[in-house]
Amino acid sequence: MLSTLERPSERSYPKVRHAIPAIEWPAFADDIDAIMALKERRNAVILAHNYQTPEIFHCVADIVGDSLALAREAMNAKADVIVLAGVHFMAETAKLLNPSKTVLIPDLGAGCSLAESITPEDVRLLRQSHPGVPVVTYVNTSAAVKAESDICCTSGNAKEIIESLGVERVIMLPDEYLAQNIAAQTHVKVITWTGHCEVHERFTAQEVRELRENHPGIVVLAHPECPPDVLAEADFAGSTAAMSSYVDKRRPPRVVLLTECSMSDNVAIQHPDLEFIRPCNLCPHMRKITLGNIRHALETMQHEVTIDERVAARARLAVERMLAVK
Ligand code: 13P
Ligand code: SF4
Repeated sequence: MLSTLERPSERSYPKVRHAIPAIEWPAFADDIDAIMALKERRNAVILAHNYQTPEIFHCVADIVGDSLALAREAMNAKADVIVLAGVHFMAETAKLLNPSKTVLIPDLGAGCSLAESITPEDVRLLRQSHPGVPVVTYVNTSAAVKAESDICCTSGNAKEIIESLGVERVIMLPDEYLAQNIAAQTHVKVITWTGHCEVHERFTAQEVRELRENHPGIVVLAHPECPPDVLAEADFAGSTAAMSSYVDKRRPPRVVLLTECSMSDNVAIQHPDLEFIRPCNLCPHMRKITLGNIRHALETMQHEVTIDERVAARARLAVERMLAVK
């Protein structure tokens, strides 16, 4: 039996005390202690996306980041087991890049509205309608859709990826808004699909104007999955990692992050002296991951992510081409 001070949960509480009241902590502590012990027993590493809740992000994750960082870290992971605290496409990307590892996702239902918006058949039809035009696929897609693509991109590298192809036109799928937002920054013509992120499509330009009126001096950061008129009203647009590093470097005294709201909680914890305005749009898929099911995943080694090798070989190529550019 560990004494109180030897319990990892006791050591991690100071990191999240601004976000989790002491009275609620015992409900998390047992799972945190169990997860830390299981990680050692299984030789496992936990990769957590920036949208994971503070008790996951700050207390049990080994590596945190945006989709691009998680892909890179997954590729270099030495542990036998990778637990992906994020959504299914992120776990698939980890498996593609490090196929000899066991990749676990704590809830198989953690999907993504963008990944749901397009099928491999849709991509094949798009290619037929636009012969010779390369397909650039956002990582928020299934491995089967990636397999139909020339190259992948994330919100952190989309412009560089498109421009690296040296062509006049690309098909960029499936996020219509991300594609339009990137098209506004480059000379390359972008053919779009009609997928949307169910979290970011809810932000409106009117909401940004109201935020500015109600919170004078506020700095508005937005994820490029937001509609273009929202980005037009924002001070900065970038991936979750880019928004986080904007706050680290520029330290705006009053700030709003137009993105999934657990991300604001995580960044606010690191900057207790800054004022965060927090409109709360939750991603129901990210919310499916909990301490309880991370613990269960490590106890039972479920749910293991597998990808048909014929699909995986082609999908891997598209992701590796991306990583070779940026
Ligand atoms: P990032 O790659 O910017 O972390 O975005 C992933 C995502 O799902 C945003 O909704
Ligand atoms: Fe998908 Fe949007 Fe959730 Fe990101 S926030 S995982 S894009 S549904």
